[in-house]
Amino acid sequence: MAFSKNFAWGVATASYQIEGGTYEDDKGLSVWDVASATEGRVFEGHKGHVGCDHYHKWKEDVALMKELGIKAYRFSINWSRLIPDGTGKISEAGRNFYLNLFKELKNADIEPWVTLFHWDYPYALYKRGGWLNPESSDWFENYAKVCAELFGDYMENIILINEPECFVGLGHFTAGHAPFLKLPVRDVAQVAHNVLLACGKAEKILRKTVKHPVKIGTAQAYWPAIPATESKKDVEMAKKETFACHKDFGGPALWLDPLLKGEYPQDFLAWFKENGFIPPAEDMKIIRSLLDFCGLNTYSGNPVKDEEGKPVYLTPSPAVPKTDMRWNVYPTVMYYGPKFIFERYGLPVVYTEDGVALAEWKDLNGEINDDSRIDFLKRYLRELHRAAQEIPVEGYFYWTFYDNYEWTEGFSKKFGIVHFDPETLERTPKKSAWFYKKVIETNGEEALK
Ligand code: NOJ
Repeated sequence: MAFSKNFAWGVATASYQIEGGTYEDDKGLSVWDVASATEGRVFEGHKGHVGCDHYHKWKEDVALMKELGIKAYRFSINWSRLIPDGTGKISEAGRNFYLNLFKELKNADIEPWVTLFHWDYPYALYKRGGWLNPESSDWFENYAKVCAELFGDYMENIILINEPECFVGLGHFTAGHAPFLKLPVRDVAQVAHNVLLACGKAEKILRKTVKHPVKIGTAQAYWPAIPATESKKDVEMAKKETFACHKDFGGPALWLDPLLKGEYPQDFLAWFKENGFIPPAEDMKIIRSLLDFCGLNTYSGNPVKDEEGKPVYLTPSPAVPKTDMRWNVYPTVMYYGPKFIFERYGLPVVYTEDGVALAEWKDLNGEINDDSRIDFLKRYLRELHRAAQEIPVEGYFYWTFYDNYEWTEGFSKKFGIVHFDPETLERTPKKSAWFYKKVIETNGEEALK
Protein backbone atom coordinates (compact mmCIF):
# COMPACT_ATOMS: atom_id res chain seq x y z
CA MET A 1 0.00 0.00 0.00
CA ALA A 2 1.29 3.47 -0.84
CA PHE A 3 -0.28 6.10 1.42
CA SER A 4 -3.65 6.11 3.22
CA LYS A 5 -6.82 6.31 1.18
CA ASN A 6 -7.72 9.95 1.83
CA PHE A 7 -4.16 11.21 1.98
CA ALA A 8 -4.03 14.99 1.37
CA TRP A 9 -1.55 15.64 -1.42
CA GLY A 10 -0.94 19.32 -1.69
CA VAL A 11 1.24 22.36 -2.05
CA ALA A 12 1.70 25.16 0.47
CA THR A 13 2.16 28.92 0.27
CA ALA A 14 1.81 31.88 2.63
CA SER A 15 0.05 35.20 2.07
CA TYR A 16 2.99 37.55 2.42
CA GLN A 17 5.20 35.43 0.20
CA ILE A 18 2.84 35.43 -2.79
CA GLU A 19 -0.01 37.93 -2.63
CA GLY A 20 1.40 41.36 -3.41
CA GLY A 21 -1.34 44.01 -3.63
CA THR A 22 0.29 45.57 -0.59
CA TYR A 23 -0.84 49.13 -1.21
CA GLU A 24 -4.18 48.28 -2.81
CA ASP A 25 -7.71 48.83 -1.57
CA ASP A 26 -7.79 49.47 2.15
CA LYS A 27 -5.26 46.83 3.18
CA GLY A 28 -3.38 47.66 6.38
CA LEU A 29 0.36 47.15 6.57
CA SER A 30 1.98 44.17 8.22
CA VAL A 31 5.35 43.99 9.97
CA TRP A 32 6.71 42.25 6.85
CA ASP A 33 5.43 44.99 4.52
CA VAL A 34 7.40 47.44 6.63
CA ALA A 35 10.50 45.21 6.87
CA SER A 36 10.68 44.58 3.14
CA ALA A 37 10.43 48.32 2.46
CA THR A 38 13.28 49.01 4.91
CA GLU A 39 16.80 49.21 3.54
CA GLY A 40 19.13 46.47 4.68
CA ARG A 41 16.50 44.01 5.80
CA VAL A 42 16.24 41.79 2.71
CA PHE A 43 18.80 40.32 0.32
CA GLU A 44 19.79 42.83 -2.36
CA GLY A 45 16.84 45.01 -1.38
CA HIS A 46 14.25 42.68 -2.95
CA LYS A 47 10.81 44.07 -2.27
CA GLY A 48 7.79 41.95 -1.42
CA HIS A 49 4.97 44.36 -2.27
CA VAL A 50 4.13 42.65 -5.59
CA GLY A 51 4.97 39.13 -4.40
CA CYS A 52 3.81 36.69 -7.11
CA ASP A 53 0.90 39.03 -7.83
CA HIS A 54 -1.43 36.34 -6.57
CA TYR A 55 -3.80 39.12 -5.44
CA HIS A 56 -4.63 39.58 -9.11
CA LYS A 57 -3.74 36.20 -10.57
CA TRP A 58 -5.51 33.93 -8.07
CA LYS A 59 -7.83 32.50 -10.73
CA GLU A 60 -4.94 31.62 -13.00
CA ASP A 61 -3.10 30.10 -10.03
CA VAL A 62 -5.99 27.84 -9.05
CA ALA A 63 -6.35 26.77 -12.69
CA LEU A 64 -2.67 25.85 -12.80
CA MET A 65 -2.98 23.86 -9.57
CA LYS A 66 -5.88 21.99 -11.09
CA GLU A 67 -3.90 21.27 -14.24
CA LEU A 68 -1.08 19.92 -12.08
CA GLY A 69 -3.42 17.58 -10.26
CA ILE A 70 -3.03 19.26 -6.86
CA LYS A 71 -5.66 17.92 -4.46
CA ALA A 72 -5.16 20.19 -1.46
CA TYR A 73 -3.90 23.73 -1.09
CA ARG A 74 -2.44 25.21 2.07
CA PHE A 75 -2.48 29.02 2.06
CA SER A 76 -2.74 31.72 4.68
CA ILE A 77 -5.01 34.66 5.31
CA ASN A 78 -3.32 38.01 5.62
CA TRP A 79 -4.74 39.44 8.84
CA SER A 80 -4.14 43.07 7.88
CA ARG A 81 -5.78 42.57 4.48
CA LEU A 82 -8.95 41.37 6.17
CA ILE A 83 -8.88 43.69 9.19
CA PRO A 84 -6.63 46.61 8.24
CA ASP A 85 -6.05 47.76 11.82
CA GLY A 86 -5.88 44.24 13.23
CA THR A 87 -9.10 44.82 15.19
CA GLY A 88 -12.29 46.62 14.23
CA LYS A 89 -13.42 47.31 10.70
CA ILE A 90 -13.39 44.47 8.18
CA SER A 91 -12.20 45.25 4.66
CA GLU A 92 -14.75 44.46 1.95
CA ALA A 93 -11.98 44.01 -0.59
CA GLY A 94 -10.11 41.64 1.71
CA ARG A 95 -13.23 39.65 2.46
CA ASN A 96 -14.07 39.33 -1.25
CA PHE A 97 -10.56 38.30 -2.17
CA TYR A 98 -10.56 35.32 0.18
CA LEU A 99 -14.18 34.40 -0.51
CA ASN A 100 -13.45 34.28 -4.24
CA LEU A 101 -10.37 32.17 -3.61
CA PHE A 102 -12.29 29.70 -1.43
CA LYS A 103 -15.04 29.45 -4.07
CA GLU A 104 -12.59 28.97 -6.91
CA LEU A 105 -10.84 26.18 -5.00
CA LYS A 106 -14.16 24.51 -4.37
CA ASN A 107 -15.04 24.68 -8.08
CA ALA A 108 -11.67 23.17 -8.88
CA ASP A 109 -12.22 20.43 -6.30
CA ILE A 110 -9.10 21.43 -4.37
CA GLU A 111 -9.38 21.09 -0.59
CA PRO A 112 -8.45 24.28 1.28
CA TRP A 113 -6.09 24.02 4.26
CA VAL A 114 -6.09 27.50 5.65
CA THR A 115 -3.47 28.94 7.97
CA LEU A 116 -4.79 31.82 10.05
CA PHE A 117 -1.43 33.40 10.71
CA HIS A 118 1.78 33.00 8.76
CA TRP A 119 3.93 35.82 10.19
CA ASP A 120 2.43 38.93 8.50
CA TYR A 121 1.37 40.55 11.79
CA PRO A 122 -0.69 43.76 11.48
CA TYR A 123 1.63 46.72 11.88
CA ALA A 124 -1.15 48.66 13.66
CA LEU A 125 -1.14 46.02 16.41
CA TYR A 126 2.63 45.94 16.53
CA LYS A 127 2.52 49.64 17.36
CA ARG A 128 0.22 48.81 20.26
CA GLY A 129 2.81 46.46 21.72
CA GLY A 130 2.24 43.47 19.46
CA TRP A 131 2.41 40.05 21.05
CA LEU A 132 3.60 41.63 24.31
CA ASN A 133 0.31 43.43 24.79
CA PRO A 134 -1.86 41.57 27.35
CA GLU A 135 -4.77 41.91 24.90
CA SER A 136 -2.89 40.27 22.04
CA SER A 137 -4.54 36.86 22.42
CA ASP A 138 -7.98 38.51 22.38
CA TRP A 139 -7.09 40.30 19.15
CA PHE A 140 -6.21 36.98 17.60
CA GLU A 141 -9.34 35.33 18.96
CA ASN A 142 -11.43 38.08 17.40
CA TYR A 143 -9.60 37.68 14.09
CA ALA A 144 -10.21 33.90 14.17
CA LYS A 145 -13.90 34.54 14.85
CA VAL A 146 -14.15 36.91 11.90
CA CYS A 147 -12.51 34.29 9.66
CA ALA A 148 -14.93 31.64 10.91
CA GLU A 149 -17.96 33.89 10.36
CA LEU A 150 -16.92 34.94 6.87
CA PHE A 151 -15.35 31.77 5.52
CA GLY A 152 -16.60 29.05 7.86
CA ASP A 153 -18.71 27.41 5.15
CA TYR A 154 -15.55 26.74 3.18
CA MET A 155 -13.25 25.83 6.04
CA GLU A 156 -12.43 22.18 6.53
CA ASN A 157 -8.85 22.09 7.78
CA ILE A 158 -7.40 24.95 9.79
CA ILE A 159 -3.85 25.59 10.90
CA LEU A 160 -3.86 28.11 13.70
CA ILE A 161 -0.38 29.56 13.50
CA ASN A 162 2.63 28.80 11.33
CA GLU A 163 5.99 28.10 12.96
CA PRO A 164 5.78 30.05 16.22
CA GLU A 165 9.43 29.00 16.70
CA CYS A 166 10.34 31.45 13.93
CA PHE A 167 8.24 34.53 14.42
CA VAL A 168 8.77 34.33 18.18
CA GLY A 169 12.40 33.13 18.17
CA LEU A 170 13.75 34.84 15.07
CA GLY A 171 11.29 37.71 15.28
CA HIS A 172 11.58 38.64 18.95
CA PHE A 173 14.75 36.99 20.30
CA THR A 174 17.50 37.00 17.68
CA ALA A 175 16.27 39.78 15.37
CA GLY A 176 16.53 37.61 12.25
CA HIS A 177 12.96 38.15 11.06
CA ALA A 178 10.25 40.82 11.40
CA PRO A 179 9.72 42.62 13.69
CA PHE A 180 13.53 42.29 14.19
CA LEU A 181 13.59 42.50 17.97
CA LYS A 182 16.15 41.25 20.45
CA LEU A 183 14.16 41.10 23.66
CA PRO A 184 15.30 39.54 26.94
CA VAL A 185 14.28 35.93 27.63
CA ARG A 186 11.60 37.09 30.07
CA ASP A 187 9.79 39.13 27.45
CA VAL A 188 10.12 36.54 24.71
CA ALA A 189 8.68 33.95 27.09
CA GLN A 190 5.75 36.32 27.60
CA VAL A 191 5.36 36.61 23.83
CA ALA A 192 5.39 32.80 23.52
CA HIS A 193 2.83 32.51 26.29
CA ASN A 194 0.54 35.06 24.62
CA VAL A 195 0.87 33.21 21.32
CA LEU A 196 -0.15 29.98 23.08
CA LEU A 197 -3.10 31.75 24.70
CA ALA A 198 -4.05 33.04 21.25
CA CYS A 199 -4.01 29.49 19.86
CA GLY A 200 -6.09 28.16 22.73
CA LYS A 201 -8.68 30.90 22.39
CA ALA A 202 -8.81 30.59 18.61
CA GLU A 203 -9.31 26.82 18.71
CA LYS A 204 -12.30 27.24 21.00
CA ILE A 205 -13.95 30.10 19.13
CA LEU A 206 -13.48 28.34 15.78
CA ARG A 207 -15.21 25.19 16.99
CA LYS A 208 -18.04 27.32 18.37
CA THR A 209 -18.46 29.51 15.30
CA VAL A 210 -18.00 27.19 12.33
CA LYS A 211 -21.24 25.31 11.83
CA HIS A 212 -19.75 21.95 10.83
CA PRO A 213 -16.90 19.87 12.30
CA VAL A 214 -13.49 21.18 11.25
CA LYS A 215 -10.05 19.73 11.67
CA ILE A 216 -7.70 22.04 13.54
CA GLY A 217 -3.96 21.71 13.91
CA THR A 218 -0.66 23.53 14.08
CA ALA A 219 2.39 23.82 11.83
CA GLN A 220 5.62 23.48 13.79
CA ALA A 221 9.08 24.34 12.48
CA TYR A 222 10.28 20.82 13.06
CA TRP A 223 13.96 19.98 12.72
CA PRO A 224 14.14 16.86 14.81
CA ALA A 225 17.30 15.39 16.19
CA ILE A 226 17.91 12.19 14.23
CA PRO A 227 19.90 9.21 15.44
CA ALA A 228 23.44 8.95 14.07
CA THR A 229 23.00 5.16 13.91
CA GLU A 230 19.96 2.90 14.18
CA SER A 231 21.05 1.73 17.64
CA LYS A 232 18.39 1.91 20.32
CA LYS A 233 20.61 4.18 22.40
CA ASP A 234 20.99 6.74 19.62
CA VAL A 235 17.30 6.63 18.74
CA GLU A 236 16.36 7.28 22.37
CA MET A 237 18.87 10.12 22.58
CA ALA A 238 17.53 11.69 19.38
CA LYS A 239 14.02 11.56 20.75
CA LYS A 240 15.07 13.12 24.04
CA GLU A 241 16.98 15.89 22.30
CA THR A 242 14.12 16.62 19.91
CA PHE A 243 11.91 17.60 22.84
CA ALA A 244 14.57 19.21 25.04
CA CYS A 245 14.92 22.91 25.86
CA HIS A 246 17.97 24.27 24.07
CA LYS A 247 17.53 27.73 25.56
CA ASP A 248 15.99 29.15 22.46
CA PHE A 249 12.35 29.20 21.44
CA GLY A 250 12.64 26.23 19.11
CA GLY A 251 11.68 22.61 19.53
CA PRO A 252 8.17 21.20 19.39
CA ALA A 253 7.76 20.63 23.14
CA LEU A 254 7.53 24.31 24.08
CA TRP A 255 4.49 24.64 21.83
CA LEU A 256 2.84 21.24 21.71
CA ASP A 257 3.09 20.31 25.40
CA PRO A 258 1.08 23.35 26.57
CA LEU A 259 -1.44 22.95 23.75
CA LEU A 260 -1.94 19.22 24.02
CA LYS A 261 -1.08 18.42 27.64
CA GLY A 262 -1.92 21.75 29.25
CA GLU A 263 1.55 22.17 30.75
CA TYR A 264 4.98 23.51 29.88
CA PRO A 265 7.85 21.01 29.84
CA GLN A 266 9.83 21.18 33.09
CA ASP A 267 13.09 22.30 31.44
CA PHE A 268 11.42 25.24 29.67
CA LEU A 269 9.62 26.17 32.86
CA ALA A 270 12.93 26.19 34.76
CA TRP A 271 14.57 28.35 32.08
CA PHE A 272 11.66 30.81 32.14
CA LYS A 273 11.71 30.96 35.95
CA GLU A 274 15.44 31.65 36.00
CA ASN A 275 14.66 34.60 33.79
CA GLY A 276 11.78 35.92 35.84
CA PHE A 277 8.79 34.57 33.94
CA ILE A 278 6.23 32.37 35.65
CA PRO A 279 3.31 31.41 33.42
CA PRO A 280 0.00 31.89 35.31
CA ALA A 281 -1.41 28.45 36.13
CA GLU A 282 -4.99 29.50 35.31
CA ASP A 283 -3.99 30.24 31.70
CA MET A 284 -3.15 26.61 31.03
CA LYS A 285 -6.81 25.61 30.80
CA ILE A 286 -7.32 28.19 28.07
CA ILE A 287 -4.22 27.08 26.22
CA ARG A 288 -5.02 23.39 26.29
CA SER A 289 -6.73 22.57 23.02
CA LEU A 290 -8.37 19.76 21.15
CA LEU A 291 -6.26 19.38 18.07
CA ASP A 292 -6.90 16.92 15.27
CA PHE A 293 -3.41 16.70 13.84
CA CYS A 294 0.15 17.81 14.38
CA GLY A 295 1.31 19.76 11.35
CA LEU A 296 5.04 19.55 10.80
CA ASN A 297 7.29 21.65 8.58
CA THR A 298 10.45 19.65 8.02
CA TYR A 299 13.38 20.31 5.75
CA SER A 300 16.30 18.83 7.65
CA GLY A 301 17.41 17.74 11.09
CA ASN A 302 20.39 17.28 13.37
CA PRO A 303 22.16 13.92 13.74
CA VAL A 304 23.04 13.08 17.30
CA LYS A 305 24.57 10.13 19.10
CA ASP A 306 24.57 8.94 22.66
CA GLU A 307 28.02 8.99 24.23
CA GLU A 308 27.87 7.67 27.74
CA GLY A 309 24.45 9.14 28.29
CA LYS A 310 25.35 12.53 26.81
CA PRO A 311 24.19 13.92 23.45
CA VAL A 312 26.94 14.52 20.92
CA TYR A 313 25.86 16.34 17.78
CA LEU A 314 27.69 15.37 14.61
CA THR A 315 29.16 17.80 12.14
CA PRO A 316 27.82 16.75 8.75
CA SER A 317 30.31 14.99 6.54
CA PRO A 318 31.27 17.07 3.49
CA ALA A 319 29.60 14.35 1.44
CA VAL A 320 26.13 15.25 2.76
CA PRO A 321 24.20 17.07 -0.01
CA LYS A 322 23.23 20.64 0.80
CA THR A 323 20.33 22.59 -0.62
CA ASP A 324 20.62 26.20 -1.76
CA MET A 325 19.66 27.21 1.80
CA ARG A 326 22.70 25.22 2.97
CA TRP A 327 20.33 22.83 4.68
CA ASN A 328 21.55 19.24 4.86
CA VAL A 329 19.61 16.60 2.98
CA TYR A 330 18.81 13.97 5.62
CA PRO A 331 15.87 11.90 4.38
CA THR A 332 15.51 9.96 7.66
CA VAL A 333 14.04 13.09 9.29
CA MET A 334 10.83 11.99 7.58
CA TYR A 335 10.94 8.62 9.31
CA TYR A 336 12.06 9.43 12.84
CA GLY A 337 10.49 12.89 13.03
CA PRO A 338 6.84 11.89 12.69
CA LYS A 339 7.34 8.80 14.85
CA PHE A 340 8.72 10.86 17.72
CA ILE A 341 5.73 13.21 17.51
CA PHE A 342 3.17 10.42 17.38
CA GLU A 343 4.76 8.59 20.29
CA ARG A 344 4.62 11.69 22.47
CA TYR A 345 1.25 13.18 21.49
CA GLY A 346 -0.71 10.34 19.89
CA LEU A 347 -2.07 12.54 17.12
CA PRO A 348 -1.93 11.91 13.37
CA VAL A 349 0.79 13.78 11.57
CA VAL A 350 0.42 16.01 8.51
CA TYR A 351 3.44 17.32 6.66
CA THR A 352 2.30 20.92 6.31
CA GLU A 353 5.63 21.75 4.62
CA ASP A 354 8.66 20.02 3.16
CA GLY A 355 10.70 21.00 0.16
CA VAL A 356 14.00 22.03 -1.32
CA ALA A 357 15.56 25.25 -2.62
CA LEU A 358 17.86 24.78 -5.59
CA ALA A 359 20.08 27.22 -7.45
CA GLU A 360 18.38 26.92 -10.83
CA TRP A 361 17.10 28.98 -13.73
CA LYS A 362 15.12 28.60 -16.90
CA ASP A 363 17.35 27.14 -19.59
CA LEU A 364 17.67 28.41 -23.17
CA ASN A 365 14.74 26.23 -24.20
CA GLY A 366 12.57 27.80 -21.53
CA GLU A 367 12.59 24.64 -19.38
CA ILE A 368 13.55 23.96 -15.78
CA ASN A 369 14.76 20.40 -15.52
CA ASP A 370 15.04 20.17 -11.76
CA ASP A 371 16.03 16.54 -11.41
CA SER A 372 17.55 17.15 -7.99
CA ARG A 373 14.15 18.26 -6.68
CA ILE A 374 12.60 15.06 -8.03
CA ASP A 375 15.37 13.09 -6.34
CA PHE A 376 14.78 15.00 -3.08
CA LEU A 377 11.07 14.24 -3.24
CA LYS A 378 11.72 10.56 -3.82
CA ARG A 379 14.18 10.32 -0.95
CA TYR A 380 12.01 12.20 1.54
CA LEU A 381 8.74 10.56 0.51
CA ARG A 382 10.24 7.08 0.77
CA GLU A 383 11.15 7.73 4.38
CA LEU A 384 7.74 9.24 5.05
CA HIS A 385 6.18 6.16 3.53
CA ARG A 386 8.24 4.01 5.88
CA ALA A 387 6.86 6.02 8.83
CA ALA A 388 3.33 5.78 7.41
CA GLN A 389 3.50 1.98 7.77
CA GLU A 390 3.83 2.46 11.52
CA ILE A 391 1.90 5.60 12.46
CA PRO A 392 -0.97 7.66 10.99
CA VAL A 393 0.26 10.18 8.42
CA GLU A 394 -2.57 12.10 6.77
CA GLY A 395 -1.03 14.50 4.30
CA TYR A 396 1.95 16.03 2.58
CA PHE A 397 2.21 19.61 1.34
CA TYR A 398 5.18 20.41 -0.82
CA TRP A 399 6.71 23.80 -0.03
CA THR A 400 6.04 25.49 -2.31
CA PHE A 401 3.74 25.88 -5.29
CA TYR A 402 5.78 28.54 -7.10
CA ASP A 403 9.08 30.26 -6.34
CA ASN A 404 8.20 33.15 -4.06
CA TYR A 405 9.42 35.70 -1.57
CA GLU A 406 11.61 33.79 0.86
CA TRP A 407 11.55 36.38 3.68
CA THR A 408 14.97 37.98 4.20
CA GLU A 409 16.29 36.04 1.18
CA GLY A 410 13.84 37.81 -1.12
CA PHE A 411 13.35 36.02 -4.45
CA SER A 412 16.84 34.51 -4.38
CA LYS A 413 15.81 31.08 -3.03
CA LYS A 414 13.74 28.88 -5.28
CA PHE A 415 11.63 26.20 -3.64
CA GLY A 416 8.76 26.00 -6.17
CA ILE A 417 7.65 23.19 -8.45
CA VAL A 418 6.55 26.08 -10.64
CA HIS A 419 9.09 28.68 -11.75
CA PHE A 420 8.10 32.29 -11.15
CA ASP A 421 9.71 35.23 -12.90
CA PRO A 422 9.50 38.33 -10.67
CA GLU A 423 9.87 40.64 -13.70
CA THR A 424 7.38 39.18 -16.14
CA LEU A 425 5.25 37.52 -13.41
CA GLU A 426 5.16 34.45 -15.66
CA ARG A 427 4.55 31.00 -14.12
CA THR A 428 6.21 27.97 -15.73
CA PRO A 429 5.84 24.45 -14.32
CA LYS A 430 9.20 22.76 -13.73
CA LYS A 431 9.88 19.12 -14.53
CA SER A 432 9.20 18.34 -10.86
CA ALA A 433 5.64 19.67 -11.18
CA TRP A 434 4.84 16.91 -13.69
CA PHE A 435 6.59 14.36 -11.51
CA TYR A 436 4.58 15.48 -8.47
CA LYS A 437 1.41 15.21 -10.54
CA LYS A 438 2.19 11.52 -11.10
CA VAL A 439 3.00 11.07 -7.42
CA ILE A 440 -0.45 12.40 -6.58
CA GLU A 441 -2.22 10.34 -9.25
CA THR A 442 -0.60 7.17 -7.94
CA ASN A 443 -1.11 8.06 -4.26
CA GLY A 444 2.64 8.10 -3.77
CA GLU A 445 3.64 5.00 -5.76
CA GLU A 446 5.54 7.07 -8.31
CA ALA A 447 7.95 8.22 -5.61
CA LEU A 448 8.58 4.69 -4.41
CA LYS A 449 9.54 3.23 -7.79
C1 NOJ B 1 9.12 27.74 6.65
C2 NOJ B 1 8.06 28.78 6.45
O1 NOJ B 1 6.83 28.43 6.99
C3 NOJ B 1 7.94 29.27 5.03
O2 NOJ B 1 7.32 30.50 5.06
C4 NOJ B 1 9.30 29.31 4.39
O3 NOJ B 1 9.29 29.93 3.15
C5 NOJ B 1 9.81 27.89 4.26
N1 NOJ B 1 9.81 27.23 5.56
C6 NOJ B 1 11.20 27.77 3.63
O4 NOJ B 1 12.13 28.44 4.40
